[in-house]
Amino acid sequence: MRKYLVLNIIFCFVLLPLSAARAQVHWQFDVPFVPTPYVVIEEMLRLADVTPRDFVMDLGSGDGRVLITAAQKFGARGIGVDLDGDLVAESIESAKAAGVTDRVQFLQQDLFKTDLDQATVITMYLLPGVMARLQPRLLELKPGTRLVSHDFRLGDWKPDVSTQIRKNTFLWIVPARVGGRWQLKMTLPGGERQMSLELRQKFQEVEGFGQFSDRPSQIWESRLSGDRLSFVIVDDRDRDNEAALYLEGQVKGDVIEGRLRRGVGEAQTIHAWRAERVKAP
Ligand SMILES: C[S@@+](CC[C@H](N)C(=O)[O-])C[C@H]1O[C@@H](n2cnc3c(N)ncnc32)[C@H](O)[C@@H]1O
Repeated sequence: MRKYLVLNIIFCFVLLPLSAARAQVHWQFDVPFVPTPYVVIEEMLRLADVTPRDFVMDLGSGDGRVLITAAQKFGARGIGVDLDGDLVAESIESAKAAGVTDRVQFLQQDLFKTDLDQATVITMYLLPGVMARLQPRLLELKPGTRLVSHDFRLGDWKPDVSTQIRKNTFLWIVPARVGGRWQLKMTLPGGERQMSLELRQKFQEVEGFGQFSDRPSQIWESRLSGDRLSFVIVDDRDRDNEAALYLEGQVKGDVIEGRLRRGVGEAQTIHAWRAERVKAP
């Protein structure tokens, strides 16, 4: 942790300003222009699992290389925004040379004033303070939107995945909002069962407890990835026949619907479940 902090400080306050000066670029905006190496761009786009169905937005797009690579190598469409008009003009020329003007667009505008709603993937190489300011807006995006960053984290939001190939790359998947009290119904052998469940959420981390068959019950192994929630509860109504219930579901606003597996191996049975949020967090 300490090593990571020292490396970040060196990068922010020594390397980044030095490379900006070497590139003879004025640091007049929130972040200087320092291009991401191509091998790191490819890792960011691989990590975000970019496909031709994606709309990628590069916030602070510099010379356009991230978006042009996303279009050329992954078939994606997208928009890059940068406040530096010269870099925007250079990006447009590079997009023409790469033959991807039908898929990418570069705009001279402030990333803080840019509508991000159409993005399925957002790429960033920004400074920690800018990332921390962006964090609340990014959390509001559609669940499942993938966010990838070169070198810097999104404040206290832990990445879902991080890799290191020359540089650090981080992936976050915008989580659905699942906090609050839920009333859950499931059809198990022996009839319908109900559970009242209280979920607490911090970013993609979820913990919960409730009442299942009038007994206090806890949830285990919870995972939230975009709008996909999974967790395990123990069906202990019959002490001689306890079984784990593996629930998986899709969150759609105030409803979660999915399937559950009861037990394991040959004894496993599959059932439907549904939950409705009855109280906001
Ligand atoms: C470190 S460079 C990253 C360039 C490119 N995304 C890459 O990874 O190669 C950051 C870029 O953000 C731009 N920038 C800084 N503040 C901005 C703002 N508020 N809105 C839009 N662009 C900004 C800078 O002009 C610079 O080109």
